[in-house]
Amino acid sequence: MIKQAIIPLAGLGTRLLPLTSVFAKELLPINGKPGIEYILDECIEAGIKEVIFIISKKKLMIKKYFYNDKFYKDIIKRKKDPRIINEYKKILKYKKMIKFVFQDKPLGTGDAVLKTKKFIKGKFFLMLLPDDLIVKQNCSKAMITLHKKFKSSVMASMKVKEKEVSRWGIYNIKEKISTKNFIIKGVIEKPSIKQAPSNNAVIGRYILPKKIFNKLLKLKPGKDGEIHITDAIQSLINDNNKFIGHNFSGKYLDCGTMNGYINSTLEIAKIWKFVWLALDTLG
Ligand code: G1P
Repeated sequence: MIKQAIIPLAGLGTRLLPLTSVFAKELLPINGKPGIEYILDECIEAGIKEVIFIISKKKLMIKKYFYNDKFYKDIIKRKKDPRIINEYKKILKYKKMIKFVFQDKPLGTGDAVLKTKKFIKGKFFLMLLPDDLIVKQNCSKAMITLHKKFKSSVMASMKVKEKEVSRWGIYNIKEKISTKNFIIKGVIEKPSIKQAPSNNAVIGRYILPKKIFNKLLKLKPGKDGEIHITDAIQSLINDNNKFIGHNFSGKYLDCGTMNGYINSTLEIAKIWKFVWLALDTLG
């Protein structure tokens, strides 16, 4: 059973400047709720019991967001506002399941994963990249179901435009399992159009085996001098470990770029407008 998830949060968020010059991008509100809470809700609904946040000193604001008890208690004592009480209860629920580890130098996603090595208990764990929101369907839940069936690693994926392959990890298919699931032959980090073996992009949800830590320990820096999780995955595939690419059913929202962030707000507002209208009709 997969009960632990890790979330790399030490990135500087330069693609969202100036918003991120003093603010953590994962706390930016998307339709009135910080992006990170969407990710936490996805984890909770998928049955995750513990989430490890990988932050840096520059992102301490994230820890503070979940550890501001005195502030809430003082306000609630003075003002018995039920909305604030509910929000505080929600924050407490999140806080109980979060652990923090530090990655002080931004040396890549693989390096961030390595920081969680001594905390991972099970044979497999889930990783979610907070720039990638997937709404309408719980992608992590669907991936955990697949993992249970095939006892293998799983990565979320979607087809992207050919001219955009250099923005993603790209994989090619060894074998089709069903319309949405494929056994992966190989994966390459951000290839040029010429190098790309396909246009199947890896999106930020991974079920990884604990043995990936040994690969990461031995890995030399790859593209742009960073330690990439993609390179460790390729090394595991070379050793005959099975990785499944899962074309998820939910809607993908890219929160890591300014245009994507603005669009995410609009898309989620649309979903809520639809919910409110439906509730209104029911009276
Ligand atoms: C990371 C991974 C990349 C993956 C992407 C998904 O890149 O390195 O393989 O396709 O996440 O969002 P980043 O977005 O951190 O540059």
